[in-house]
Amino acid sequence: MKTIYTIQMLQHSLNQFKKEDKKIGFVPTMGFLHEGHLALVEKAKQENDIVVMSIFVNPAQFGPGEDFDAYPRNTKRDMELSKNAGVDILFVPETVEMYPTNGGIRILPGPQATKLCGASRPEHFDGVLKVVLKLFNIVDPDRSYFGMKDAQQFAIIETFIRDFNLRTELVRVTTVREKDGLAKSSRNVNLSETERLQAPEIQKALQKGLELFRNQIPVNEIETEVIKHIVANTSGGIDYVSLLSYPSLQELNEETEEAILACAVKFENTRLIDNIIFSTK
Ligand code: PAJ
Repeated sequence: MKTIYTIQMLQHSLNQFKKEDKKIGFVPTMGFLHEGHLALVEKAKQENDIVVMSIFVNPAQFGPGEDFDAYPRNTKRDMELSKNAGVDILFVPETVEMYPTNGGIRILPGPQATKLCGASRPEHFDGVLKVVLKLFNIVDPDRSYFGMKDAQQFAIIETFIRDFNLRTELVRVTTVREKDGLAKSSRNVNLSETERLQAPEIQKALQKGLELFRNQIPVNEIETEVIKHIVANTSGGIDYVSLLSYPSLQELNEETEEAILACAVKFENTRLIDNIIFSTK
């Protein structure tokens, strides 16, 4: 595995592969890697000749008072994990490499970004699209791998790629979970021991919500029951629990085929998200 820190060096390496018509699979991350990230690598390896992973904790997607400073980082460990997983090129730019200038141009995502996490993190997805567009332009990947743990992010990027004719195929990867059901996340290390024991109740609450949906319980009652379960079984505070169509993130109607039941829960030092996506038919 080659670890590269500059855009110029990365493009130099990639040009060689592109001349040989090798297919490039791209896995963008913020590092502190876990099996969720590695599942994206595994899929990318199966479908491409070369796998590029980026590690960049993108300041543009953190709001004031959010956990940019507390976001876990361990580049040395990440290098080991990505190498063992078969990453060919690891791109680890510094902030000045990614953002040497700021002309103030912004990307404004549409209505999908006003729901769920977008409601409490108003500029989060502007920052995600900004870095994702830059990374797509830098790497020019044939395929890009994103996880359904961040289903809203996936839905917005899907719209972005389609509406702006970006030259990459988006590939969906299922959420990887701990044995007890907790979605793997870099942020899980910021849970206290007690919170970590409680956290699997989030996924249990969502499963309970799905069961209620199958029993034709109205949406607002489902959301209330999910909230009640999380409040009764964890010390976390509810940011949101929401049942919407997927990927449009609108209220459900007769035409809805796929739905998402998603939530965000705030613990003492970290905020966790999780979701389930299911067919409504
Ligand atoms: P990060 O949170 O590091 O996640 C990188 C990728 O890994 C995302 O596509 C995310 O959905 C996926 N992922 C995280 N946990 C997962 C899990 N348990 N199972 C499957 N996939 C999982 O998402 C970001 O970084 C950033 O917003 C980024 C896209 C890199 C832009 O900065």
